[in-house]
Amino acid sequence: MEKAIGVIDSGVGGLTVAHELMRQLPKEKLIYLGDTLRCPYGPRSQEEVRSFTWEMVEFLLEKDIKMLVVACNTATAFALEDLQQKLDFPVIGVIQPGARAAIKFTQNNHVGVIGTEGTIRSEAYTKALKGINAGIHVNALACPLFVPMVEKGILHGEHAEQVVQEMLHPMKANNHIDTLILGCTHYPLLRDTIQNVIGKHVTIISSSEETAREASTILEFHNMLRQEADPPRHQFYTTGEMEIFSRIAQSIFTKPVNHFESVTIEKAVIC
Ligand code: DGL
Repeated sequence: MEKAIGVIDSGVGGLTVAHELMRQLPKEKLIYLGDTLRCPYGPRSQEEVRSFTWEMVEFLLEKDIKMLVVACNTATAFALEDLQQKLDFPVIGVIQPGARAAIKFTQNNHVGVIGTEGTIRSEAYTKALKGINAGIHVNALACPLFVPMVEKGILHGEHAEQVVQEMLHPMKANNHIDTLILGCTHYPLLRDTIQNVIGKHVTIISSSEETAREASTILEFHNMLRQEADPPRHQFYTTGEMEIFSRIAQSIFTKPVNHFESVTIEKAVIC
């Protein structure tokens, strides 16, 4: 099937998921849209996140996609169910895969989750984790300063370290966790700093691997894998500044990507 996998995020964070999709499904074509202009989604209301998410989906629907990966935890928490009900192709989010991966790794059933204010407020991870294992203890913490920092391309160094120290302090102070879910797709870009601050004894989970595995399983099950032998031409779009977006993308991807374009999302009328 020549159609692409659509991938959406509020900005550059979903590129961490796109990277893993490219690794696990090298024949598949991706069309990525990051809504950098309106990032962050984390502090916004459920209604606003849902409406922005639908606007991104409308953009991708014009490009003809066969599957949608909501590579944004905030959009997954607030809009996944709605998208799954209304779209007639597979739609997957990043929360359930992240929860599954954490349950696989925890030894003491104490799992930490960090994410945006919206994701933490929704309690989507707590529900997903306890839905699988009611005995899991969840320590959830919002880290609102991480996304704006990542979108500026500040991923290492003294300032990044200081912000991560400050944000993770409440979790460190009362810390039985042996596993920490990066419940925002921007956070893997700060992974080394987060690992240094939280300590080596904590296993860090990013949901991208498990999400890509789920995409692969679903495409195979529905006989929707791309058959064409020629290499896929991915497309990456941002609603914001192309230069910083492509700089961060190039630092994530090992191979150069071949299409960056700045786009405007039209107001979508959909319900
Ligand atoms: N990457 C996003 C997430 O996974 C979004 C962050 C934001 O825009 O606040 O939640």
